[in-house]
Amino acid sequence: MKGESMFRRVFLLLTVALPGTASAQTSDQIRSFQSIFRPIGAPAETVHRTDVLVLLICLGIFVVVGGLLLYSVVHYRQRPTDDDTTEPPQVYGSTAIELAWTVPPILIVIVLALATARTVGEIENPKYVSDPLKVRIVGHRFWWEIRYPKFNVVTANEIHVPVSYLSTPRPIELTLESADVVHGFWVPELNGKQWLVPDRANKWWIQPTTLGTYLGNCTVLCGLQHANMLIRVIVESPEDFDRWVSREQRPPTFEPNVAEGRRDFEVNSCGSCHTIEGTISNGIFGPDLTHFMSRKTLGAGVAPNDDENLKSWLRDPQVLKPGCLMPDMKLNERQVEQIVVYLRTLN
Ligand code: CUA
Repeated sequence: MKGESMFRRVFLLLTVALPGTASAQTSDQIRSFQSIFRPIGAPAETVHRTDVLVLLICLGIFVVVGGLLLYSVVHYRQRPTDDDTTEPPQVYGSTAIELAWTVPPILIVIVLALATARTVGEIENPKYVSDPLKVRIVGHRFWWEIRYPKFNVVTANEIHVPVSYLSTPRPIELTLESADVVHGFWVPELNGKQWLVPDRANKWWIQPTTLGTYLGNCTVLCGLQHANMLIRVIVESPEDFDRWVSREQRPPTFEPNVAEGRRDFEVNSCGSCHTIEGTISNGIFGPDLTHFMSRKTLGAGVAPNDDENLKSWLRDPQVLKPGCLMPDMKLNERQVEQIVVYLRTLN
């Protein structure tokens, strides 16, 4: 029983902790951990094939080296009958042994280098079978700006994309940029990592073939809240994706009961950093809030987007996300309540 639980723990460690990072996210069918061993779509499958090849070669090396070591330890161990006064035979130089430890490693390195170069080539120069959907992603400390130029849609942190069917592949081309420091984009199930570098536009692509929500992280230490710069890729049916796009394109409508909250939002300079279409709020330093309610999380995935967390965020963002660049606006409780009423109408 004990042995079994030990085995399970080692297995979990190998399958969960090593390839991915555990995540505390909960909500709609997202998986609780990420894995490079569950590729979804063409680029991830290419990476996965190389991963498996490298792992198998390394496993082979481990077995051969470990086996030789074990054999030597057992076979040449000290025995009671040993004569300790004379040295064992000393060997100086052996062409056969030197060739054995030089030539195979060189061949292994060549195989690994060729396989890796081929994968890098396939990933970096994709041959799209159809016109890719273009999404522009800008990394900020500590959130993701997401733009769909074709649809004139701007959102943050949660990337909606249509699923790729075998009959109709839908590649998605990502242009990765940074507004401040170097960040890294990685959704393990969908592709390998790619950099976001200031003053540079790196290309990347995904082509997910299974519906669901996939989690990603920033992979470059970019400051205090680097760990809470989470990505959610929501892969939905083409129909759901079209519905999402039309919802994002609709200008918000304002009910009379949001007037006070809207005024509080505007007089407290929230609009210097955030945009809400159709209002004087047009800041670009923070996430666009025009369709804030279409997002499931707050603060780039730091907490679910519910009333309690939203109030906490408005009272002082530094509580949920210490070190984030949104300051405590010193709102009073009435203002917090009214701004929540306002934000809740931003569908
Ligand atoms: Cu952005 Cu780490």
